[in-house]
Amino acid sequence: MNKIVDKEYFSENVVKFEVEAPLIAKSRKAGHFVIVRVGEKGERIPLTIAASDLNKGTITIVIQAVGASSKKICELNVDDYITDIVGPLGQATHIENYGTVICAGGGVGIAPMLPIIEAMKRAGNKVISVLAARTKDLVILEKQVAEYSDEVIVMTDDGSYGHKGLITNGVEMVINREKVDLCVTIGPAIMMKFVSLLTQKYNIPTMASLNTIMVDGTGMCGACRVSVGGKTKFVCVDGPEFNAHEVDFDEMLMRLRAYS
Ligand code: FES
Repeated sequence: MNKIVDKEYFSENVVKFEVEAPLIAKSRKAGHFVIVRVGEKGERIPLTIAASDLNKGTITIVIQAVGASSKKICELNVDDYITDIVGPLGQATHIENYGTVICAGGGVGIAPMLPIIEAMKRAGNKVISVLAARTKDLVILEKQVAEYSDEVIVMTDDGSYGHKGLITNGVEMVINREKVDLCVTIGPAIMMKFVSLLTQKYNIPTMASLNTIMVDGTGMCGACRVSVGGKTKFVCVDGPEFNAHEVDFDEMLMRLRAYS
């Protein structure tokens, strides 16, 4: 049982929780995720660790209420307990000094991008963060992202904040302006697909953090499988990050619709 010590609404359906999990807080690295479950029969939901506090022994997770289980988690309050949190899972992000890195995060994908932005900056990169959301209210963590970014470009679909346009417009604006050595993208699968197609056109190495359906998170059930470079990979143990140019996003999008 993991106690919730802080809760904040980023928008009506997006909630940030700070949860007691001292062992995970100690060992997690950028890119790692956890699997969260509420109730004995609750679905197991994979969530990336957005931040951790070693002194308090807590981790920060951000969750969007989309289905029955995620809604149930979002309804929890401070001092309530999450039934269990398993992690840290997955492979940590490969961090080095690449040069100029675009971090393109869309919607709730901005939360898992935050530790990567921080780690990339600490490694000496020039970090340009491109954040995208449908509307102003859905742009999350902008202040925290700005702390570790050389520049933050905000894109909204309706133009209610920052530039009007899609994330790809923001990324292309940077590519047309300066040399980019790496792009990291996290967000809805369809968004990552189009960021990947764009950077492929410009020959810019790109990493995508995939958000497939997961069950066990340890490579046993196969629920998270994706095709990368023509080979089957498990997002939970081989990922969550892969060379975006090798990911079969169309197959992934089809598998993501399995529940509906
Ligand atoms: Fe079961 Fe990855 S979640 S194999």
